[in-house]
Amino acid sequence: MQVFETIEALQNELAHIKDKSLGLVPTMGALHQGHLSLMKQSLKDNDHTIVSIFVNPTQFNDPKDLEKYPRTLEKDCKLIEELGVDYVFAPTVTEMYPEPDTRVFNYPPQDEVMEGKYRPGHFNGMCQIVSKLFAIVNPTRAYFGEKDYQQLIIVKRMVKELGFDIEIVGCPILREKDGLALSSRNSLLSAEERKNALDISGTLFDSVEYAKEHSLKETLGYVVNRINANTNLELQYFEIVDADTLLPVSDWSESASIIGCITVFSGTVRLIDNIKYKS
Ligand code: PAF
Repeated sequence: MQVFETIEALQNELAHIKDKSLGLVPTMGALHQGHLSLMKQSLKDNDHTIVSIFVNPTQFNDPKDLEKYPRTLEKDCKLIEELGVDYVFAPTVTEMYPEPDTRVFNYPPQDEVMEGKYRPGHFNGMCQIVSKLFAIVNPTRAYFGEKDYQQLIIVKRMVKELGFDIEIVGCPILREKDGLALSSRNSLLSAEERKNALDISGTLFDSVEYAKEHSLKETLGYVVNRINANTNLELQYFEIVDADTLLPVSDWSESASIIGCITVFSGTVRLIDNIKYKS
């Protein structure tokens, strides 16, 4: 496995494989099985796979969040190598942003709701780095987890609007045996916070059963009340939305594809999750 820190060195290497299919798995490191499942999918689909590891400062609206984001490059590279991935691209901040990136990406309504509302600028920064990676690597396919569902929808839209010839592949959420959605942030949870966090996936799973017999509004109330009943959790939002527009729906019959998206603090750790009600 080759590890590149500069765009030039990476592109010199990629020039040798330009006739082969190439899968890109963009990450911010602190890898877990969820990331590895994206890599495994890419290894299946493509002749070559490249993983980028870059904690992108422009997508963090809270400097404390950026500071405490776990960084485990050496361990990450070992995991990636074991899978048989060909390349890692792990640039520095100045390599990716020699000048401040002033580009503005607007994808309303998808980038305005939920995460867009609570993390202003987050999706703009995410589009800045993902579009740069796409331009540098020019992959055949790029892999994103469905846990960050809103991100996946926005990347798909960006690719379409900017005319990138890249297939965006969404991969299912991976969960611990007890239901907790895999996330790099889970490593920041204390044992007590982790225990409380289980209420998030537990409530979402139960809400799918509840939804079979109840209205959408009742289901919304069920989730909100159950999370609020755990005084160690702090609900930021729970919304039941159309899976394409990401706009709230008020009745199960309103859309063919409906998803519930949630963000909850367990202690100071911000966790997101989602569940499909109709697909
Ligand atoms: O999902 C992430 O880890 C990041 O948002 C991404 C796609 C790697 C861009 O920095």
